[in-house]
Amino acid sequence: MSAWIAPAQDLGSLKAVSVPQPSDLSKYVRDPKMLVVLGKALFWDMQAGSDGRAACATCHFHAGADHRAQNQLVNPQDSFPVNHALGPQDFPFRVLSNPDDNRSGVLRDSSAVAGSAGLFRRIFGDIVSGSASEDGYDAADAPAFSVNGINARRVTARNSPSVINSVFYVRNFWDGRASNLFTGLTPFGDSDGRMNALAARGGGVAWESVRIENASLASQAVGPPMNDVEMSYQGRTWPKFGKKMLGLRPLALQRVSPDDSVLGSLANPADRGLLPQLTYLSLVQAAFQPEYWISEQGTGTDATQAESNFALFWGLAIQAYQATLVSDDARFDQFSEGAGGALSSEEQLGLRIFRTAGGCTGCHLGPEFTAASFSSIARRGAVQRLRNGLGRDTGFFRIGVRPIAEDAGLGGDDGFGRPLSLAAAENAGARSAAQGAFKTPTLRNVELTGPYFHNGGQATLGQVVDFYARGGDFPDGGNLGPGIRRRNLTPVERQALVAFLKSLSDDRVRFERAPFDHPELCVSIGHPEPLQADASDRRFPLSATDRWAAIPVVGAKGNSAPLQTFEELLAGIGADGSRTHTLTEACPIP
Ligand code: HEC
Ligand code: HEC
Repeated sequence: MSAWIAPAQDLGSLKAVSVPQPSDLSKYVRDPKMLVVLGKALFWDMQAGSDGRAACATCHFHAGADHRAQNQLVNPQDSFPVNHALGPQDFPFRVLSNPDDNRSGVLRDSSAVAGSAGLFRRIFGDIVSGSASEDGYDAADAPAFSVNGINARRVTARNSPSVINSVFYVRNFWDGRASNLFTGLTPFGDSDGRMNALAARGGGVAWESVRIENASLASQAVGPPMNDVEMSYQGRTWPKFGKKMLGLRPLALQRVSPDDSVLGSLANPADRGLLPQLTYLSLVQAAFQPEYWISEQGTGTDATQAESNFALFWGLAIQAYQATLVSDDARFDQFSEGAGGALSSEEQLGLRIFRTAGGCTGCHLGPEFTAASFSSIARRGAVQRLRNGLGRDTGFFRIGVRPIAEDAGLGGDDGFGRPLSLAAAENAGARSAAQGAFKTPTLRNVELTGPYFHNGGQATLGQVVDFYARGGDFPDGGNLGPGIRRRNLTPVERQALVAFLKSLSDDRVRFERAPFDHPELCVSIGHPEPLQADASDRRFPLSATDRWAAIPVVGAKGNSAPLQTFEELLAGIGADGSRTHTLTEACPIP
């Protein structure tokens, strides 16, 4: 047991950890600053979705995560109706007669997942020149996402984690399927052995392979654009997506602050978006080496070289932007740097429990608060590998959030049918350890990123602490991570633990100051009841009318009101202007 209690110095200020750098970048990139400009624009741009509405930011707009509460459930017919508006009474998803005893009677249980709403189920037709919105048609959806033949927006099968500090993970996604090795087109690293980049050499063009290490965020970023729950009509392709985006003016629908920390000097002073003379092609040309976009010759007859390489540009640019989203100035960082007064005595008690009676540092360790980060693995991976053969899956654990059969996590497959667990690929014994294991998430800014766990089944940090105090909800199935067992924590200790977790928030995140400032965005917030077809677009007779909310534009100096927490949203706190992102402002985008 004691081997898992990290020494005190195993936590610490994130300022001491250097940001991992992708290998081989200069081969592709001519201007790293422009790469970040391109990446930030792409990440926030609503034109990227097939519907001209869904951006990466749609599910990562709030402290890097998503705190929407209506039409956010998968498998909703299990316990909740389609388009359900979550309330405080719905959490936690599993309620026991004795909350401290995971063997006590079950009062309520749901296998639903609080994920993120994306697109309606639609089949891709074609892109429309000069338009963000693509042609396509509605397709009937499963009962989980439709009522009387009218479709609701589909929802992701897991909860959206924060993109802030995600650059520190060796592998991304809850199950680690976004590989550390970026191969230019898909998330799966070595499993994708194809040549995915088109290079101009000696008067012609030729395919070559891409192998960039420390690039899990690039691997991750090429997933959502072709995913028909998240951003795409079914059947869209990368060259088509590239052709659409390269011809568009960046962020044309959205206001950008002239004070934006990255985009400000390029913001259009007169109207929405970036300057009228800019297109995504011009930003790509500014950021990337000409060998990757100079030729008109691409795949087949109707794609240029730039269009053929769009996944490469997309992945590297968005990764470069997300690598700037580092929150290393929480009060906990200041405390670790020697400012003893930065944490209250209650928070310091919480820190002590986090390290000792709570057993939390067995997995949430290092300045990143996760064993799945580069620096944690460098520090401890070798020891662990010897101990249990799991070194390369370091930081993935089963803590008993749900039964293994509902979601195998690291025990599942990648898109090419290979085991996600790298240890299991070689060793059958490791396979069972991977079942139901998920990546240990960072706990930085966790106050702002509810609901919690891969299933979004806990609304408050108090509920999470109660979960750990009873040793998890589903201990059966074995292979629980180290330290997951019943712990006698008093109410005072639990409260202190929650107070400590809240000291991990960086005020720049809380108030959206640089680098966490951003363009305007509108997000769907469910559908009016009863679901009714939206008559305004004759192409989509099965799609329900949407409700939209504005996420207001913010520049480098941030907002005057702090972000609303998920808990506050459920309780209706903050709509009086005392919080930001209350999802109550009308969408100003036509
Ligand atoms: C419809 C909602 C949705 C959209 C759109 C979306 N994401 Fe996500 N994102 C998620 C969900 C859900 C997960 C977790 C999925 C999983 O782990 O299986 C996730 C995971 C991630 C992660 C991994 C973080 C971690 O801790 O493992 C990153 C990084 C990320 N998304 C960035 C992006 C980027 C970049 C885009 C656009 C290219 C994007 N997301 C679009 C919902 C979304
Ligand atoms: C055995 C390893 C392990 C230990 C010990 C552990 N955690 Fe975790 N923690 C995880 C994993 C893995 C997840 C994600 C699990 C999932 O969603 O299935 C997680 C998730 C969380 C989350 C939710 C974060 C989010 O973004 O959804 C919080 C909060 C948290 N842990 C706090 C704690 C606290 C407080 C303790 C000590 C009482 C603790 N953890 C002990 C591994 C651990």
